[in-house]
Amino acid sequence: MTDLPDPSRRPLPLADAHQPSWNRSSMTCLYRCANACAHPVPNQSENEYFGDIVDQVVSRRGVLKASAVGALVAGAGVAGALPAAAAPAAPAAPAAPAAAHAAGRRPDTSGSALTFPAVPPNQLDTVVVANGYDWAVVIRWGDPVLPDAPRFDFERQTPYAQARQFGYNNDFLGFLPLGGSGDRGLLWSNHEYTNEELMFPGFTSQDALTVDQVRVAMLAHGGSVVEIERVGDTGQWRLVTRGHRHRNRRITPMTPMRFTGGAAGSALLRTNADPTGRRVLGMLNNCAGGVTPWGTILTGEENFNQYFVGGDAVPAADKPALARYGITTTARYPSGSRKWERADRRFDLAVEPHEANRFGYIVEIDPYDPASTPRKHTALGRFKHEGANIKVAKDGRVAAYMGDDERFDYIYKFVSSRKMRRGRSRVDREWNKRLLEDGTLYVAKFTGDSPPAQIDGTGRLPSDGAFDGSGRWIPLTDGRTSFVPGFTVAQCLVHARLAADAVGATKMDRPEDIEPNPVNGRIYCALTNNTSRVATTPVPPSGRVAGVDEANPRADNRNGHILEIAEAGGDAAATTFAWALPILCGDPADPSTYFAGFDKTKVSPISCPDNVAFDRAGNLWIATDGNALRPAGENVERNYNDGLFAVPLEGPERGHLKQFATVPRGAETCGPLISDDQRTAFIAVQHPGEETGATVETPASTWPDGDAARPAVVSIWRIASGSKRIGA
Ligand code: FEO
Ligand code: CA
Ligand code: CA
Ligand code: CA
Repeated sequence: MTDLPDPSRRPLPLADAHQPSWNRSSMTCLYRCANACAHPVPNQSENEYFGDIVDQVVSRRGVLKASAVGALVAGAGVAGALPAAAAPAAPAAPAAPAAAHAAGRRPDTSGSALTFPAVPPNQLDTVVVANGYDWAVVIRWGDPVLPDAPRFDFERQTPYAQARQFGYNNDFLGFLPLGGSGDRGLLWSNHEYTNEELMFPGFTSQDALTVDQVRVAMLAHGGSVVEIERVGDTGQWRLVTRGHRHRNRRITPMTPMRFTGGAAGSALLRTNADPTGRRVLGMLNNCAGGVTPWGTILTGEENFNQYFVGGDAVPAADKPALARYGITTTARYPSGSRKWERADRRFDLAVEPHEANRFGYIVEIDPYDPASTPRKHTALGRFKHEGANIKVAKDGRVAAYMGDDERFDYIYKFVSSRKMRRGRSRVDREWNKRLLEDGTLYVAKFTGDSPPAQIDGTGRLPSDGAFDGSGRWIPLTDGRTSFVPGFTVAQCLVHARLAADAVGATKMDRPEDIEPNPVNGRIYCALTNNTSRVATTPVPPSGRVAGVDEANPRADNRNGHILEIAEAGGDAAATTFAWALPILCGDPADPSTYFAGFDKTKVSPISCPDNVAFDRAGNLWIATDGNALRPAGENVERNYNDGLFAVPLEGPERGHLKQFATVPRGAETCGPLISDDQRTAFIAVQHPGEETGATVETPASTWPDGDAARPAVVSIWRIASGSKRIGA
């Protein structure tokens, strides 16, 4: 690497017109989500008003049956009972351990105690792990992925090199074993977005980038597959840098992909380059994801709106749908756009008005087959997909749980039409790889069981001692029939947000990762925050910003919460469920916080939960994105680093949340992945040094190598004597 500026020079805060309402650097807002929080909430629907009217079950034949609602909701919680939220209790164990989210995971309920000492909040420019553990970088931005990748050269980056090197802003991590030894595997990483100000020396503005630099930024998006190996007999892993590495692969916004499902081939997906509406180049802004039981990767296209300009020039009839997805339709070049149209005209909607309809999907990738064509599954709907995680239903069909990460957007579930085959033959695997092409897409409606007057926006528990209730999955389409009046099948999928508005889905506080717990069978969702939530119950007079409800009970929700869902009968194919909020995040000294009734003097402060994972004992691991913690009585955030936390969900330790690790300054904790043998925690350190005013020359972080900030994947392992297991 060439010489870099003195890392001791620290940036001065620059004035910026955009002032995020919580403690997120304004650069994060600009580069990650195009200042989404500065724009109007895309969900301008008044479905809370009309919810009571359309609060009806739509049958598979599209017939409205209001009378069915009461019976279904009344039965929701019986078999899927949750532990009493205020008084931790033994769980209602499913008849058999739920299918693990990853192939080969064997749940182990032998003990869920987390023995590590908590890491205190800090602002250090490094990874900090609990005493008794160590960490090391596995791979960083610019490291070789393909065997012919040129050496990383910070001063002379090229599109050719970046297309062969590890991309920027690693996010979701998946691990897939190679061989039977447990010492080799494939690591998948998403590359969500880029920080051009931290990538290119001399950066002044997006407009001033050369077209080649724009192409470098484009090719730093997507995902990577790399072969990794265990270091000795430890929990440390390293990149394999010799040999064929024939499965290593870079996926970029230029990788040919194809559409599957009910919207494939529809007019909404056709462009000049693809008159069939079945082929597309690349994926954008891939955030979280999951590993399927059949050993493929699911990755979610999230804030795809920021890559498109020219929304002002599309036909007027198309504008409301674009606006519902956060695409500006009133300006030629919206603020925060990435100017990719300079390198590829399809990102100009004035040229290709349908191109934006071709992003915002769950993409399935087979990491074992580097020649395979990734598939965008339209059956799972189009929205700002955080990710998707699979749970196998009792009859063998598979459900995919999904969050739409936007203020006041929704939680979805897809249930396949066909059943998963449990055999391990090639034929069985090819069958399973098609399960997500055909099935029913649902959206969630949550109903509290406490009087609305007791949900006052403060976080004070209602008199029954819990934010909890029942809910149901409202079907939108099964891919053949639309269940939403006025919507075609293709519209239900491509404009899923609008279809969900029409059926009265519950507006949530930014649903991020949602994942089934492989031990207790329940589903856990991180709701990261929503400072636009207001206290008025049930809705404010304007009707445009939703008031609190029992599932989103805090006004000005700066710190977020965790949602726990128990499907009726423990069955992922159920259409009703029980739910509760086991954790309301924040500083435990803040009376609006809640940790499943656990002694709050013993828990770590936590803010903005984003990604979730589980260990083999079923403990919940939570990675954070943004930190809005304010000491009691103060009105200023402390700007503590993001971290990785763990919390037991069963028994007397339920709610005993502790911080296990923190990431460097300006970074977000992504990934997290607890290995099946529980000897390794992988995290993705995303956007280190992303603070307002920071550049290559004036870095806010110089992690990991002391010269320039570079996003990187880290493995964490235990060095203390005794158990080799992480956490236990
Ligand atoms: Fe990319 Fe929802 O975080
Ligand atoms: Ca309640
Ligand atoms: Ca995320
Ligand atoms: Ca996850």
